[in-house]
Amino acid sequence: MQEERLQKIISQAGLASRRAAEKMILEGRVAVDGRIVQELGQKFDPAAHEITVDGKKIRESEQHVYLLLNKPKGFLSTAKDDRGRRTVLDLLPKVKERVYPVGRLDNNTEGLLLITNDGGLMNGLLHPKFEVEKTYHARVTGNLTHEKIMKLRQGILLEDGPTAPAKVRMLPDPEPNDQRRGLSRVEITIHEGRNRQVRRMFAAVGCDVKALKRVQFAGLTLKGVPRGHHRALTEEEVAMLYRLAGLMK
Ligand code: URA
Repeated sequence: MQEERLQKIISQAGLASRRAAEKMILEGRVAVDGRIVQELGQKFDPAAHEITVDGKKIRESEQHVYLLLNKPKGFLSTAKDDRGRRTVLDLLPKVKERVYPVGRLDNNTEGLLLITNDGGLMNGLLHPKFEVEKTYHARVTGNLTHEKIMKLRQGILLEDGPTAPAKVRMLPDPEPNDQRRGLSRVEITIHEGRNRQVRRMFAAVGCDVKALKRVQFAGLTLKGVPRGHHRALTEEEVAMLYRLAGLMK
């Protein structure tokens, strides 16, 4: 095999996205032949060296797994938590491969989360250049006027820069309970994946998100997957994701 950058080897082994692999290296969790490597960009031939993450040898060619999970609230979308809180992997006890969530949902957000050990696909789906769409349903307070919706549609200036324009539409028929509490139901589609982006966009127009659910990712929906459950993606779905991520299968 050829020499590759260490972060690329880790991400291709399906352990993490490229950026998360860089963080693992900087945190001193990665060793090559027993020696911790904390600088980014060093190249190695994975066939010629023993590379470990958290002391565990990385496997180069694990069978790829692609799952669609309906995440409930109260589960972190990280692979592990130092404070022992529940993570989405606790919902997948039978999955033996080392899988990772594709991007993040907040602890108190529910809905569609892809889980895989295919690092190449994960990187592609998260890369801003491919503009992979994510749709959320939100229940918000703060009188969501037409003017506020227009602002969200045009893009909002957040402290980490302007967002791209979003697709926004009111959802019909708020439940009577929601109406009493002054909540509006709204659908928003974005293609960026910044931290707490939807909540911050609504906050910027004076609305507070009380409930948030991701209902679509890259055209995939939660149909047939109850909360807390998951299903494997079909071959056609994986091929579709490969195309969206600019990859060939
Ligand atoms: N935007 C948010 O604010 N939270 C999420 O969990 C996902 C998108």
